[in-house]
Amino acid sequence: MKLIHKISLTLGTLGLVCLLAGCSQGQSEDKSIETIKAKKTLVLGTSADYAPFEFPIIKNGQKEFAGYDILVAKELAKSLGVSLKVDNIEFSSLISELQNKKCDVVLAGLTPTPQRKKVISFSQNYCTYNFKNVLLVQKKDANRYNTAASLANQSVGVQQSTTQEDIANKQLKASHIIPESLVTGLATELSHGKLAGIVVENTIANDYLKLHPGQYAIAKVPLKTPAEGNTFAVGVRKQDRALLKKINQKLTEMKKSGKLEQLLKQALETQAKYSK
Ligand code: ARG
Repeated sequence: MKLIHKISLTLGTLGLVCLLAGCSQGQSEDKSIETIKAKKTLVLGTSADYAPFEFPIIKNGQKEFAGYDILVAKELAKSLGVSLKVDNIEFSSLISELQNKKCDVVLAGLTPTPQRKKVISFSQNYCTYNFKNVLLVQKKDANRYNTAASLANQSVGVQQSTTQEDIANKQLKASHIIPESLVTGLATELSHGKLAGIVVENTIANDYLKLHPGQYAIAKVPLKTPAEGNTFAVGVRKQDRALLKKINQKLTEMKKSGKLEQLLKQALETQAKYSK
């Protein structure tokens, strides 16, 4: 009895030691923060076709990227003591570019869907309100598309690889769902009448309504937004656990202090200023 007791005690201690060693080894393998500090830069992957979250501006003759996601990323870079570099990548390539280490983080109005969570990690949400999805149409068609069936024989545009593409495919009876790489391109095609409508998040739709008065309208066709689809979060590589932890700490701090709301306001002001 005594011997058995001794053996199990020893095994237990051994197990604990291994567990501790294993844990600390796992942690020390994660050099995500050190790597960023060594290159003195946090590389942000984004798709700058998404005002007020990310959009290009010309400032003092130079092209720059502005918007809420850029401002939040700047704060994250600051908290790591490094500067921010923006890499403007097509939305559909963002996740693979993150996995291929072309960028360190993705902030692109990126929704943390269950499928994406299988391949990358997500921070807590940093969106200060919930989204809905809507069909943006030309003003003259404001009362034309009230049901999914009313879109039969029509073409509806969506940004490729987005949650909107999924929603349009599942919920609209349009005969053609047309995926394209840029939201800005979709809006142009809508204004030229090449598309009957485009599925976008309501913040983006409201932005087009505000900036182009009299040109667009939100159709009455009801669209359901899945619960996980109404927000966005920072995407990081699965293995970059230390970086993820740091980002979550900073986001919590910015939520508590009201900084996130202030940054969204600032992004809207910048957009108003540069879209004149
Ligand atoms: N929230 C949607 C998604 O994650 C659309 C995001 C589009 N973002 C952009 N920068 N174009 O699929």
